[in-house]
Amino acid sequence: MEPKYPVFAPLLLLKYFATILMEDELSKNSDNKLCIVMVGLPARGKSTIAKKLRENLAKHRIPSRIFNNGQLRRRIRGQDTSSPEFYDPNNEAGVRLRERIALTNLDRARRYLQNSGQVAIIDATNASLKRRQKIESFLSGRQTGLDAHQILFVECINDDEEILETSIRHKIRLPEFKGVPPELAMEGFKRRIDYYKSIYNPLEKEKNFVKLDSLNNRILMEEITTDIPFYDLIRDFLVTDSVKNLFLIRHGETYFNLEDRIGGDSSLTPKGLRQAQALAQYFKSKSIPFIFTSKKKRTIETAEPIRALQSNCTIVPLGEFNEIDSGICECMSYEEIRTQMPEVYHARKKDKYNYVYPGGEGYATMKERVDRGIKKALFLSGGAENIMIVGHRAVNRMILSHFLYRRTEDVPYIYIPQDRFYHIVATQYKKLFQLRPYE
Ligand code: F6P
Repeated sequence: MEPKYPVFAPLLLLKYFATILMEDELSKNSDNKLCIVMVGLPARGKSTIAKKLRENLAKHRIPSRIFNNGQLRRRIRGQDTSSPEFYDPNNEAGVRLRERIALTNLDRARRYLQNSGQVAIIDATNASLKRRQKIESFLSGRQTGLDAHQILFVECINDDEEILETSIRHKIRLPEFKGVPPELAMEGFKRRIDYYKSIYNPLEKEKNFVKLDSLNNRILMEEITTDIPFYDLIRDFLVTDSVKNLFLIRHGETYFNLEDRIGGDSSLTPKGLRQAQALAQYFKSKSIPFIFTSKKKRTIETAEPIRALQSNCTIVPLGEFNEIDSGICECMSYEEIRTQMPEVYHARKKDKYNYVYPGGEGYATMKERVDRGIKKALFLSGGAENIMIVGHRAVNRMILSHFLYRRTEDVPYIYIPQDRFYHIVATQYKKLFQLRPYE
């Protein structure tokens, strides 16, 4: 049989070899090689940023690899590095071992760049100026007599206490804390952070660096004095919010829904519980490491059965995702508002987006906190493949409008059913909004 597309085959082969040649040329040219050195206290989002850089560079066919000091330490020493004293700058044995690990990783990164690699990413705290000077000197080629490589320092900054607390709670599930009671592990991790704080020097003197607010993906300071390979591309990755798969769910039916009442803290009805079970079945074959909910019963009750069918999933209730506070109208039905408070009813109808319930909120005034919740959820999920938010009608409208352009006057009317969920993808390469049934 004749091949279906005979003329395309040689063209494809040609394209394939051209790409290989280009990549090879790219990797031979040492001017084009870059070492990105992450800087920051523990739990500031360094690994998430490192992963995001690697994934995005790969999409541009730029070979890169992450060299993570923590992983190497765990491989070499396992559990006995979970004690905070290991990180005490006055613990000489601990300092020596950590220096050795740092140098081993650095040497691996250098060898990678010397060979086929284009960008090496050193993922570690690199907290002190002294450590960073060592890295600079090592990669300058002065000690090794080998090629010098450009260095870009990326410092991750985030001091939001609540995020830190949740982040640490997640970190203490690492194998190195196995067998350590959670509260002890939490306290130990905080002491570890304090030890790092005691030697921490923010970036200042380095030739090329970016200080990044890692919660908001915002560049706080940028100092680029030499020609850094791929810098424009890297800068773009750093400031782009990226969501691989967000499943945005509204809680199941509640007793208040049956009476058309707003606000309050009602529980799910038997139908609502069945909806939650159906969601759990639907998502059981996907890995969902985090489910973000509001602090209201109805969202947590919807998330519980989903978590129960997952192997490793944490529910994180965030106040930022609480439903719109309807102030003096809390727990009233729409009909009661219309008959007992006609001025509220008419004013809201006239400009639903900007209207603020007396003693409560409006869509416009809710925006800031919902946006903050989205940032927190993205930060905490650390670039995971799938994340889930179980929210409410008004909150989900605001979340959708964060990703999907809508005129503000239309936002309070976005369709948010209880028997469907939104699947959102928002990366630099793909945008997707899909309303899907789960039963
Ligand atoms: O399900 C009811 C509800 O979530 C209320 O708690 C909330 O006040 C309302 O929906 C928000 O929708 P709308 O802005 O259309 O009144």
